[in-house]
Amino acid sequence: MDMPHTPTRSHWSNRLAFILAAAGSAVGLGNIWKFPYITGVNGGGTFVLIYLMCIAAVGVPIFLAELFIGQRSQRNVVESFEVMDRPGTPWRLPGWLGLASAFLILSFYSVVGGWVLDFEYRSLMNQFAGHSDEEIKAVLGSLFASPGRQLFWHALFMGAVVSIVMRGLNAGIERWNKILMPALFVLLALLLVRALFLPGFGRALEFLFAPNAEALKPAGILEAVGHSFFTLSLGMGALITYGSYLQSREELVRTAFTVALLDTLIALVAGVIIFSVVFSFDLDAGAGPTLMFQTLPMLFTKMTGGYFISVAFFLLVSFAALTSAVSLLEVIVTYWVETHRKSRTVTTLVAGGVIYGLGILSALSTNLLSGVKLGDKTFFDLVDKLTSSVFLPVGGMLISLFFGWVLGPKAAEAVAGKGKYAHVAALGLMWSARLVAPLAVAVVLVHGLRDW
Ligand code: PFF
Repeated sequence: MDMPHTPTRSHWSNRLAFILAAAGSAVGLGNIWKFPYITGVNGGGTFVLIYLMCIAAVGVPIFLAELFIGQRSQRNVVESFEVMDRPGTPWRLPGWLGLASAFLILSFYSVVGGWVLDFEYRSLMNQFAGHSDEEIKAVLGSLFASPGRQLFWHALFMGAVVSIVMRGLNAGIERWNKILMPALFVLLALLLVRALFLPGFGRALEFLFAPNAEALKPAGILEAVGHSFFTLSLGMGALITYGSYLQSREELVRTAFTVALLDTLIALVAGVIIFSVVFSFDLDAGAGPTLMFQTLPMLFTKMTGGYFISVAFFLLVSFAALTSAVSLLEVIVTYWVETHRKSRTVTTLVAGGVIYGLGILSALSTNLLSGVKLGDKTFFDLVDKLTSSVFLPVGGMLISLFFGWVLGPKAAEAVAGKGKYAHVAALGLMWSARLVAPLAVAVVLVHGLRDW
């Protein structure tokens, strides 16, 4: 099943470079902003347990399927399915869907990335200190109300993403992940040590790890499945694309587990840090999406070393968001460069510009366009919901079915390798791809669509 390499294709310099880049894609706003707040809203412990089970039972198998398809085909997100099946195969559909998801997700992700930059700037300028809780809470509202400020930070964020992707795989993506990811680990470790000395640390651990089934509603279980996709960057070919830069002999299972483990660990550590702060001041863990942008800045001003903590925290979040956004843009750029033989520089600039343009609609959703709604949803809500509740799950399900039924046992055995338990692992992987993962996704989908 080995395919010839495209002669001009770049490859990761080594395994570590790939692990850092894949972790860079996975670790993002989903881990530091979304995971803590949905855990807070869903009551903690039991939700976390279900989330962990989803990562293991649904996330890791699809993660492996994507890497395998990329590595074997050595192609972009659309052509990879043709190389693995036949030219013109209807299985290209998840590839097209992946491109659409990359466009849509990056358009609003870069707007939120812009908010993070705005908060980093305010932290650096020490603009939160000396203000009342109400005033600090109002900062997010004033950012939302200002189209100019939003578009400025949005442009800056998108500019950073474009300038990294433009430089190509080794000099751009690999190099920046090698710098930003270790920096992110160090900042996170420093913040964790600081959290250790907060009075709320013990309660944070209890909240995250002690089961409390009563607090969890069925919708929470479905949210856990959906989030396991988003957080691992699954269902849209980001990992097919990154996997396609792997040498064909590179082993996948250990790599996939390492990245999934890193992603999970970082979400949990972010949760411990955030809830240690929240519980130290007896605040509501279920504050929702504003937890990071209102609750935290408010609390940082009350802590010893709050200035540095705030600067480090928002820097960390911007690094995480940046490396994820890079992987989203790369899906589109690789596809276009390979299928249209266009230059990477021009393609990246044009794609970045188009996505920025689309993102303007999201940035204006909280001000000028706040009245333009479909049902009760603004443009921002719509793209967010459409991608995470429909596109990613459908894409993930199709990729999983393709791996399980079309590529079948041979592919599962190739992934599992030759170890002692390889046979059992291959069987587990194949049936998970054939049945477990698609069924779990089907449940999320039906629920998601009913919720619309
Ligand atoms: N995994 C990223 C996060 O958790 O923030 C989001 C993401 C990045 C989703 C890349 C999909 C993707 F292709």
